[in-house]
Amino acid sequence: MEEHKIFCALDTPDLEEARKLTAMLAPHLAGIKLGLEFFMAQGLLGVKALLLLNVPIFLDLKFHDIPNTAAGAVREAAKLGVAYLTVHTSGGEAMLRAVMDAANEGAQSVNKPRPKVLGVTVLTSLNSAETSAIGFAGQPEKQVLRLAGLAANAGLDGIVASPLEAPLIKQAFGATLLVVTPGIRPLTAAVGDQQRTLTPKQALANGADYLVIGRPITQSPDPLQALLSINQDIAAQ
Ligand code: C5P
Repeated sequence: MEEHKIFCALDTPDLEEARKLTAMLAPHLAGIKLGLEFFMAQGLLGVKALLLLNVPIFLDLKFHDIPNTAAGAVREAAKLGVAYLTVHTSGGEAMLRAVMDAANEGAQSVNKPRPKVLGVTVLTSLNSAETSAIGFAGQPEKQVLRLAGLAANAGLDGIVASPLEAPLIKQAFGATLLVVTPGIRPLTAAVGDQQRTLTPKQALANGADYLVIGRPITQSPDPLQALLSINQDIAAQ
């Protein structure tokens, strides 16, 4: 049986819906991703309720602050037993180094495995007009590579980037960085606010290690069928 490649983003404020989707989808997933919407509605108790289902949890709160504050947040997150968490690489290398130390300390203090720390590079909702408006010179790819370099230097486990940039990152950093890609749209799904997208199969062919997929699964009239058909598409030669 092949290892599952998809983290499903449960962007819902509703604990029961999250629990229901998790129970239904988890056997076919690498894990579930909980982000800001779920966290603001359900808080830590909501995260802990889903951890009880024994499904790997990717806690996507995208910490971005001065090193001491970001490290404090990551230290606490690492005590929860989540499998993955995210920080913004644009917080800078000192922040990234501080959060890696804190992830180790937090996990060790409760004898749990350290969560893998992923650095968000450039949001997949930004196109090149928007990246230049916020002050990144040049194309998003250049900025993504620069930020991936900071993540690699600081010892992060991987980065979050558009599947369009996965080949560049794999070429530059090889196996040192996991590449996790949101911005995935099966051919039949609406693009929504995502700009730099590829299909699941294309993203994996580009070198992505894991895919984050939200609305194409959760907003489908039949989420399980939507996930199974993506998995089938990935497995097909
Ligand atoms: O619904 P959709 O498939 O667009 O969900 C993508 C998920 O990945 C969202 O939860 C979003 O917060 C997250 N994400 C992203 N781009 C990044 C980092 C995270 O879309 N660079």
